[in-house]
Amino acid sequence: MSVKRFGVSLEEELLENLDRLVTRHHFPNRSQAIRFLIRKSEVEEQWNMDMEVAGALVLIYDHHKRDIQKHMTALQHDYHCLIMSSQHIHLDHDMCLETITVKGKASKLIKLADKLKAVKGIRHGELVMSGIH
Ligand code: NI
Repeated sequence: MSVKRFGVSLEEELLENLDRLVTRHHFPNRSQAIRFLIRKSEVEEQWNMDMEVAGALVLIYDHHKRDIQKHMTALQHDYHCLIMSSQHIHLDHDMCLETITVKGKASKLIKLADKLKAVKGIRHGELVMSGIH
């Protein structure tokens, strides 16, 4: 892909904000930071327009909690059309980390994530979505 150069005029304060972003996210330069911001806003737009997106849901839980595995499996079967894969890691004696890779309409993925995060015994859950178009 060819790279085009263009001039950008910014207020000093905004430029300082941009440079802080470059430092904080360890971007190699301002261009990379601007690319990141454009893609981030594109993904948010796709999310808001309820377009098809892909993502990953990370869940942390104690597998000793009553019926937790049963509830999680039942929910994942209910939404099998959205689930590409899942990975289960035994973190220690008690805790498990499950990563569920999902693809589908943003609203459906959020609904599935909310339902899974609401299962009794889930310690933490986070859905990350990314545009695919
Ligand atoms: Ni486990």
